[in-house]
Amino acid sequence: MTDVVESSEVSVLLDELTRAAGREDPYSRYSRLREIAPVVRADDGTLVVTGYAGCVAVTRDPRFGNPPSQAMEFIAPGWEDHPATRLLFTSMLMTNPPDHTRLRRLVSSSFTARRVQALQPRIAEMVEDRLDHVDGEIDFVEAFALPFPVDVISELVGVPEADRARFRGLVRDWGRILEAVTPEALQKADPAAAAIRDYLADLAQERREEPGEDLISALVAVEEGEQLTEDELVTMVALLFAAGFATTTNLLANSLVCLLRDPDQLARLRADPALAPSAVEELLRYDSPVQLVRRMALEDTEISGARIRAGERVVAHLGAGNRDPQRFADPDRLDLTRADNAPLSFGGGIHYCLGAPLARLEAQTAIPALVTRFPNLQLTGAPARRDSLVIRGYTALPISVG
Ligand code: HEM
Repeated sequence: MTDVVESSEVSVLLDELTRAAGREDPYSRYSRLREIAPVVRADDGTLVVTGYAGCVAVTRDPRFGNPPSQAMEFIAPGWEDHPATRLLFTSMLMTNPPDHTRLRRLVSSSFTARRVQALQPRIAEMVEDRLDHVDGEIDFVEAFALPFPVDVISELVGVPEADRARFRGLVRDWGRILEAVTPEALQKADPAAAAIRDYLADLAQERREEPGEDLISALVAVEEGEQLTEDELVTMVALLFAAGFATTTNLLANSLVCLLRDPDQLARLRADPALAPSAVEELLRYDSPVQLVRRMALEDTEISGARIRAGERVVAHLGAGNRDPQRFADPDRLDLTRADNAPLSFGGGIHYCLGAPLARLEAQTAIPALVTRFPNLQLTGAPARRDSLVIRGYTALPISVG
C-alpha cells in the first residue's frame, strides 16, 4: 500500500474546480487529477477519489459510511437546533446501519417498482400537458425541468394539486442547504423545513382518517404497524422531495444541453425514440447531476492501493469516475448506444438511489417527447450554470421550440 498523493498541482486543480472555469469544464481537471493518482489528498486533508473503481469502493464498502452524529457537529455546528439541518441530517440518507437498514426496508416495502410503473401513464400525461403550454422562446428550467419533478413526486406521495406550487417553493428553499450549510442558506431553509414538516404531518393525519392509494397512505399503514414513528415518516417523505427534485431537474436540463450540442446524437434519438433507456443511461454518465458523494472512513482501509485511516473524510467524484478511460472506452464522447454502460450517477451500495427507477422513467418519457415534438428546438442564449459542486446543472436554459 502507498500513502495518498499530495502535491501543489493537486491543490491548484481542486481550487479550479470551485471556480467558474472549473464549473464549466470539470472533466479535464478530473482527468488530470486521475492521471496524478486515482486518490489524492486536498489541502484540508480530505481524500479525493476520481477513478471509477475507487468510487465503487467508497459507495459499496461498509468500511465507509456517514459520519457519526458527533462528527456532524464539525460539519454544521448546532445542526440539531436548525429545522433545516435536523430534517436532512436525521434522514435515511445520512444514517448508517442498523438504523439505515430498518428505514430503507420499511420505505422500500411501499415505494416499489410496481408503484413506479403504475405512475407511467400519469407521467406521460404530465409531460404532454406541460409541453402543450410551451411556445416560442422559453426558459426550459422554469417552464419544465423545475416544476415537473416536484409534480411527479407530489403525485407519488399524494400532495394535492392545489398545494403543489407552494410546496415546490418550500422544497426549493429547504434544498439550499444540500450544497453547503451556510447562515444565508439557513435563513430561508429553516422556515421552509418547518413548514414542510407541518404540512406533511397534517397530510399524514388526513390519510390516517381517510387512506388513499398514494405513498403517504402506504407509509401510514407501516406506521400503524408501529414500525415507523410519525417523525420518521415525515422525515422520509421530506427526503423524497429533497433527493428527487434538483437531481431530476438537472438531469433533464443537462441532457437537453448535451443533445443540442451534439446534433448527430440528437438526430439518432429523434429517428429512434426507443433508444430512450440507453440514451438516458449515457446522459446520466456523460454529465451527471450528482457529481460527488461524501463519506468517512469508519475503519483503517485502502482505496485503489492507497492507505486510508479511520476518521478520514472522503469525497467520491462520481462525475469523474463516469469519465474514467479504464472503465469506459472513449469516455469523453457522448454515445447514446453505448454498450455495457454502468454510470455511477445513482451512487452504489446501501445508499443506492431509491428513486432511480422513477428518475429513469421521468427522463425516458420527457426527453424523447421533447425532442420529437419540437424538431426546431435550439439554444437561444448561453445557459446559466448553477454555482455548485455537488449538483451540476443550470439555473436558466433559454431555448426556442421553433
Ligand atoms: C436523476 C435523478 C437522480 C439522481 C442523479 C440521484 C442520485 C442519487 C445518489 C447519487 C444517491 C446516493 C447518495 C449517497 O450515496 O450519499 C441518491 C440517494 C437517494 N435518492 Fe436519488 N437521485 C435522483 C432522483 C431521485 C428521486 C426521483 C428520488 C425519489 C423520489 C430519489 C430518492 C433518493 C433517496 C431516498 C436516496 C437515499 C437512499 C438511501 O440513503 O438509502 N432520488 N440519489
